Amino acid sequence: MNTQFFTQYIKNLRTVGAVAPSSPHLARKMVLPINFTDARVIVQFGPGTGSFTSEILQRRNDKTIVVLIEYNESFYETLVSKYRDEQGVYIYNGTAEDVDGILKQYGLPQKVDYIVSGLPFASLPDKQSRAILDRAKNILGTDGTFITFQYTLLKKGLLDEYFNQIVISREWRNVPPAYVLAGTNS
Ligand SMILES: C[S@@+](CC[C@H](N)C(=O)[O-])C[C@H]1O[C@@H](n2cnc3c(N)ncnc32)[C@H](O)[C@@H]1O
Repeated sequence: MNTQFFTQYIKNLRTVGAVAPSSPHLARKMVLPINFTDARVIVQFGPGTGSFTSEILQRRNDKTIVVLIEYNESFYETLVSKYRDEQGVYIYNGTAEDVDGILKQYGLPQKVDYIVSGLPFASLPDKQSRAILDRAKNILGTDGTFITFQYTLLKKGLLDEYFNQIVISREWRNVPPAYVLAGTNS
């Protein structure tokens, strides 16, 4: 049991939204839609303790920039301790709604290729989910892809409002089993 994750879940039910970090099986499924040869900028919303980050960093090419936006301070500190020596990795303690300002602050391109989201849309307020999805749509390039996982398909309709051709797959080897949804911006 990951005690840090479980403690943060108990303290922040709505924002953490999971009792444990995602499994390596789910992490591998989340990065499948990414073309690592061409990816220039990958943004992660809600990386938590880095389940998906490690998978991305193992596969990226040495020019790919990775931006991590994590709201939880304890998880942010864990991310800093794990990845601070990685070239081209920017770690920000804040909210995904501010993604455009964060990219600007770091002097990074305002258009990105992929957003890999760990956000718990099922438990975030609808208004906040929409604000985040608006920003996500805005910063993704026309060929950009939004990738997320959810434990149910309750929010599929919301994602359909923002992204096209959403492809859904299921990962059973996660507790609980999860759906991976990947949609394009154009
Ligand atoms: C379900 S956990 C997923 C963590 C990690 N991606 C994983 O799969 O193990 C949700 C994560 O989103 C973060 N989070 C929630 N709201 C956020 C927001 N508005 N901006 C950035 N991160 C947020 C939480 O702190 C938590 O780390």
